[in-house]
Amino acid sequence: MSALRKPESAESVLTVEGLTSGYDAAPVVRDVSFSIAAGEILVILGKNGMGKSTLLKTIMGFVRASSGKVHLAGENITNRPPHLIAQHSVAYTPQEYAIFQDLTVEENLRLGVENDKLLKERLEDVEAAFPRIVERLRQGAGTLSGGEQKMLLLSRALIARPQIMLIDEISEGLQPTMIARMAEVLQATKEKNGVAILLVEQNLPFALSVADRYAILKIGEIVERGDVAHADTAATLEEHLRI
Ligand SMILES: Nc1ncnc2c1ncn2[C@@H]1O[C@H](COP(=O)(O)OP(=O)(O)O)[C@@H](O)[C@H]1O
Ligand SMILES: [Mg+2]
Repeated sequence: MSALRKPESAESVLTVEGLTSGYDAAPVVRDVSFSIAAGEILVILGKNGMGKSTLLKTIMGFVRASSGKVHLAGENITNRPPHLIAQHSVAYTPQEYAIFQDLTVEENLRLGVENDKLLKERLEDVEAAFPRIVERLRQGAGTLSGGEQKMLLLSRALIARPQIMLIDEISEGLQPTMIARMAEVLQATKEKNGVAILLVEQNLPFALSVADRYAILKIGEIVERGDVAHADTAATLEEHLRI
C-alpha cells in the first residue's frame, strides 16, 4: 500500500497497483502504481518508447499483466478481455489506428453507444465539443483531416459518457489552436460529468493546462510524481521530456 500515493478508496475510479507487463523477455511497464478519483485528470508523461502506450494497453487488457492489479470502481479487472473491460464504463482512445476509415463519421460515433436512440440523444455532447464533427456525419471518416480524426476519436469517447477515459497522445500532430480546444473539452468534460481522465502525453504545455497531477514514466517506471499546481513543475518536467 505504501507505494500508492492515495490508498484505494470509494472515490478512486481507477487504481493500478504494482503493475508489470511487456511483450517478450524484459518487462516494458515495471511496478507502476497510481490511482485516479472521479473528476480528476492524471497525466503520464514520458519520452517515446518509455512504455506509456503499453501501460494503457495493459489496463485495457490488450497486453497481459505479469504481476500487479488493476481495479475499476473497486472491481479487480486485471487481465480481463478488452471487450469486458470496455463495458466497465471505460473509454479508450488509442494512439494509432483508432478510427474506422471506411465508415462514416456517424457510424464511428455509433460505436461509442449502445443503440441509435442514445446516439441521437448524445449528439448534442459532440455538438458542444466539436460542432465540425456534427456537420460531417455522412462523410467518410477516412476523408477527414488528421485533426478532425482526433476530434472524432475524442467525440466517440465522449458520447459513451464513461466513468473513466484513457487517452493516448491525443495532441500528437495537432495545430496549437486544436490542442487548445482539446484542453477546453477535457476540462469541461471533467467538470460537467465528473469523469476521471488518464492522459498519456509528451506535450508538456498541453498536459499542464489540463491535468491535476502528473507522473513521469522512465523506462517503464514512475520516477517522479506530483501536483501540477506546484510552482516549479514545468522546468523540472521539461528535463524528463528532452530527447
Ligand atoms: N507489440 C509490441 N511488441 C514488442 N515490443 C513492443 C510492442 N509495442 C511496443 N513495444 C516496445 O515497448 C517499448 C514501449 O513502447 P510504448 O509502450 O509504445 O512506449 P510509448 O508509448 O511511451 O512511446 C518500446 O521499446 C517498444 O519498442
Ligand atoms: Mg505511445
